[in-house]
Amino acid sequence: MATQAAGKGRAANTKDWSAAQYLKFAEQRTRPSRDLLAQVPLAAPKTIIDIGCGPGNSTEVLAKQWPDAQISGIDSSPNMIETARKALPNLQFAVADLMDYTPEEPVDLLFSNAVYQWIKFEDRIPIMKRLVESLKPGGVFAFQVPDNHTEKSHEAMRTVAENGPWSATLSQLKPALGPFQTPFELYNELKPLCSSVDIWHTNYQHPLEGHEGIVEWVKGTGLRPFIDPLSAEQREGFLAAYLGKLKELYPSCNDGSVLLRYPRLFLVAVRA
Ligand SMILES: C[S@@+](CC[C@H](N)C(=O)[O-])C[C@H]1O[C@@H](n2cnc3c(N)ncnc32)[C@H](O)[C@@H]1O
Repeated sequence: MATQAAGKGRAANTKDWSAAQYLKFAEQRTRPSRDLLAQVPLAAPKTIIDIGCGPGNSTEVLAKQWPDAQISGIDSSPNMIETARKALPNLQFAVADLMDYTPEEPVDLLFSNAVYQWIKFEDRIPIMKRLVESLKPGGVFAFQVPDNHTEKSHEAMRTVAENGPWSATLSQLKPALGPFQTPFELYNELKPLCSSVDIWHTNYQHPLEGHEGIVEWVKGTGLRPFIDPLSAEQREGFLAAYLGKLKELYPSCNDGSVLLRYPRLFLVAVRA
């Protein structure tokens, strides 16, 4: 399926993603795709787009479920798209930015795992409405996002950002990752376009290898807006301070693991 080309590069993240860092936790990051897919009320969708497909892990979940569907993936990161193409050479992938992306033809399913949190707060609802309107009647708009703005792991990032030689650099930038819209807001905005809007939360508890495991996890995602703008020396200092903070906040389990609680928000809407 042809996809509209990338636009103005207005994605909230400034530096390209690292598929390798992201895939260090491939299994844990892919599980929500399966949990989301399990609630999609379609028997045999013909056309599917994985929006923000990353390295193709969520696209692979879709392809396994519906091997005969026409599935494509779009992502604003060239590194992610290159990795996805290598992983799934039979599917179509394109670099494109959600800010101005619309499928060329109405599709059955728009699927998105862990992407909308990277869009600026005020841009999310207009994008979602535009995408819902691009579905066939009865088509499904499904997404999952981390909902962890107030988790200890994320509060600690902001505390460390405000207290260190990097604070001046980081105060100039407004990291994109603020709170996500509430279920109430999402329902009210999308229901007028949809016959049903199903929203739920799941709290995952990921056993990671010590506090360093939490750092490795968030280095691939939520920590990026904080460390990407720093020099190598400042980044090292930031990561050491962040690790110290995590050690204060998270107890170690008997086997040395640390449980990272990870709340995620899911939404499955059917176009009227
Ligand atoms: C956390 S990864 C999710 C990857 C994959 N969907 C998964 O299930 O693991 C987020 C992806 O969203 C992409 N992304 C962020 N902002 C985007 C935008 N404005 N347009 C398209 N993709 C975007 C990133 O490049 C990244 O690959």
